Amino acid sequence: SLVILDFGSQYTRLITRRLRELGAYSVILPGTASLERIRQENPRGIVFSGGPSSVYDAQAPRPAPGVLDLDVPILGVCYGMQFLAHEAGGEVRRAGKREYGKADLTRYGGRLFEGIQGEFVAWMSHSDSVTALPAGYEVVAETEDTPVAAIANDAARRYGVQFHPEVVHTPKGGQLLANFLDLCGAPRDWDAAHIVEELVENVRAQVGDGKVLLAISGGVDSSTLALLLARAVGERLTAVFIDHGLLRLGEREQVEAALRPLGVNLVTVDARAEFLGALRGVSDPELKRKIIGREFIRAFERETARLGHFDFLAQGTLYPDVIESAGGLQADKSGAANIKSHHNVGGLPEDLAFQLVEPFRTLFKDEVREIARLLGLPEHIRMRHPFPGPGLAIRCLGEVTEEKLDILGRVDDIFISGLREFGLYDGCSQALAVLTPIQSVGVMGDERTYSYTAALRAVTTDDFMTAEWARLPYEFLATMSNRIVNQVHEINRVVYDITGKPPATIEWE
Ligand code: XMP
Repeated sequence: SLVILDFGSQYTRLITRRLRELGAYSVILPGTASLERIRQENPRGIVFSGGPSSVYDAQAPRPAPGVLDLDVPILGVCYGMQFLAHEAGGEVRRAGKREYGKADLTRYGGRLFEGIQGEFVAWMSHSDSVTALPAGYEVVAETEDTPVAAIANDAARRYGVQFHPEVVHTPKGGQLLANFLDLCGAPRDWDAAHIVEELVENVRAQVGDGKVLLAISGGVDSSTLALLLARAVGERLTAVFIDHGLLRLGEREQVEAALRPLGVNLVTVDARAEFLGALRGVSDPELKRKIIGREFIRAFERETARLGHFDFLAQGTLYPDVIESAGGLQADKSGAANIKSHHNVGGLPEDLAFQLVEPFRTLFKDEVREIARLLGLPEHIRMRHPFPGPGLAIRCLGEVTEEKLDILGRVDDIFISGLREFGLYDGCSQALAVLTPIQSVGVMGDERTYSYTAALRAVTTDDFMTAEWARLPYEFLATMSNRIVNQVHEINRVVYDITGKPPATIEWE
């Protein structure tokens, strides 16, 4: 394995992530981990992460004595490089100003950059710089502002980069890390199956013989988590699925059919009457969200009280939910919350007396989907578009009633099934139907109608912070419109939303 010593950089986990993509297994240890602890991992190589400190800080974290003498390649990133250089007798100085952002390497070479060609854009974020090289080292990359952007001592197998090869803003950073893996002779056989094994072991170690509670939303994350936990602790997992009556047509049955046969101890709770009752007369979108959030907690607490004692609460938190947003490097989910408060199903109160189990904290969505495949989650759930916690309630504009939910459920089902039938589903990031409160005049047979307008929306996006409306074929839209007005008599007009985000949002409420 590779050992990553963490000196406090917010990007440390991204290093593991990149190495994992390259098929190499790595573990993160605290920067000050003992030599013995590091040796236990039998490392093929070591990465010193970045960190907020300066090598001159009295409190600056330092690797344990002896680590620098280990006979394995070491790569220092940012603070890690400064530490390497300083320890070897080089000079590190506070740069006049903090360098932050993208920089072009004006020159690069040597074994770290082997096979890399063309421009090399590097993401910089540092205040200190190496200003004089230690003996045995050479400069292997520079930028206009940073004359020492990468250093190498091939004989000692010590390398350092001032920039961050692990972030997406350094597009060729993956190749650089791959070169480092080659220098380490590290095996590249780490795949999703290994990840599953490791996650199962970690859960078992954490949970012991305790009981675990999980709230299921029907989405890919919580469903995959249910399968993983069932594999790890079997019957000691109870997964609770609350049917708030705001689900899609047949969704509850689909979730039951997907999870129960795979050994998930699943309890479904019919709380439709409570939710609908609480939503009666409410048309403000934010108030709807608040009520749904509150009712969810109530229903969950009622049910858990009935089910008895649990030691652990599992949550499908993913890595992007964990990392703080920094300089726009990661989509900042909380940014969206300023516009709409998100009450995810599973947005539970903080004072619950459980310990948290969050096995996916280091994973990205695509990795969870890979794991889902291995664990046997059916494709229609595995590759499903995101669905908001408040469900159809925020797609029934205005007051939510049972009648409107029923209409919208049928419209949505025709649209989503149609997308799948025409092979368009996977090309959209999210698709939805909206029931508007607009009634308008139409003609059906010889009859005048006065019925609702349904809106269809489909978007493409990478991060859901911005989105483009999907250019669905006219023929497909024509078919959808026909099917909807023919099969859903309460609808006599169908429109397609051709607004991007911004200025619109993806949901209509
Ligand atoms: P907007 O409408 O803000 O949506 O462009 C961005 C993404 O967030 C989802 N969304 C929600 N998800 N609770 C959720 O769990 C909510 O209240 C909520 N509101 C919007 C939306 O479906 C889209 O994927």
